[in-house]
Amino acid sequence: MKNLIVVLMGGLSGERKISFLTGKACSNALKKKGYKVKELDAKGYFVDKLKKLKPKLVFNALHGKYGEDGFVQSILESLKIPYTHSGVLSSSLAMDKELSRILFTKNKIKTPKYFLLQKGYEGDFKKKIINKKIKFPIVIKPVNEGSSLGVYICKNKIQFNKNYNKLKNGYNRILVEEYIPGKEIQVAVMSNKALGAIELVPTREFYDYKAKYSVKAKTKHIMPAPLSRKKYNEVLFLAKKAHKILGCRGITRSDFRFFKNKFYLLETNTQPGMTKLSLVPEIAHYCGIKFGELVAWLVKDASNNR
Ligand SMILES: Nc1ncnc2c1ncn2[C@@H]1O[C@H](COP(=O)(O)OP(=O)(O)OP(=O)(O)O)[C@@H](O)[C@H]1O
Ligand SMILES: [Mg+2]
Repeated sequence: MKNLIVVLMGGLSGERKISFLTGKACSNALKKKGYKVKELDAKGYFVDKLKKLKPKLVFNALHGKYGEDGFVQSILESLKIPYTHSGVLSSSLAMDKELSRILFTKNKIKTPKYFLLQKGYEGDFKKKIINKKIKFPIVIKPVNEGSSLGVYICKNKIQFNKNYNKLKNGYNRILVEEYIPGKEIQVAVMSNKALGAIELVPTREFYDYKAKYSVKAKTKHIMPAPLSRKKYNEVLFLAKKAHKILGCRGITRSDFRFFKNKFYLLETNTQPGMTKLSLVPEIAHYCGIKFGELVAWLVKDASNNR
């Protein structure tokens, strides 16, 4: 079909459900703007289906493994189909919380202190935690998940053992990091401009899956984040820098903790959520950019060789 946009959604990751919400919201907005749109679940033999559809471009609404990590991006490069958001290498780097942190640290962006546990090569936990000067509570998480899946706050060794055992069957590489108290601040970057910073105040222990996607969890969103002008500009600068260091394109969202006047970057998301409760659309709205305009901008920005 001529001038068709395929919205890739669903897929194979743990964030499949959320990706449908993102995908549907984006596809509806594009239809409203007059684009010809087809939704496609990136599962099974979807590449054959995609080839048959011969789209003008792909709107990537996938989250997590295979959708946000360079995998689908390389398929689209090899098919020469333009696509939205970041390219192959930036997606892979950003999805890998260890590799992206190495780059952040090298470029003087603060991250929590951490070490890696690799399945089969765990080594001496006690030695590692002492060497890194990390104290309980600690946070453990897979290097390549999203939506807070597999994120556990552990107050002591017993809780750590219990949660690590839950994670180690599904994931080969797990981060152990210091818990940073304080505020949860997230920043949206569009093209090379940081749009704004929002603060999230969960009613739950932390900003977990429910706090992110359930209205009932009543997470408070404060836009703009209540920071001094200096600190507000600083976090915008850091998010823009992280976007640039990773070589990201389109729109990203960087997640920070703010404690004792310092920002700690947790990660940069290359396929940020676009659901009803999502933060990029909320930040953009505050800046006068409507959801439809945001999605249409992503379409116009799509290309290959990203
Ligand atoms: N070191 C930490 N200190 C304090 N809280 C943390 C820490 N790491 C993670 N968290 C909490 O867990 C949440 C999810 O962590 P993180 O952003 O690393 O995971 P994710 O699954 O990649 O999330 P996303 O939905 O953004 O993809 C954070 O927003 C924060 O509330
Ligand atoms: Mg996050």
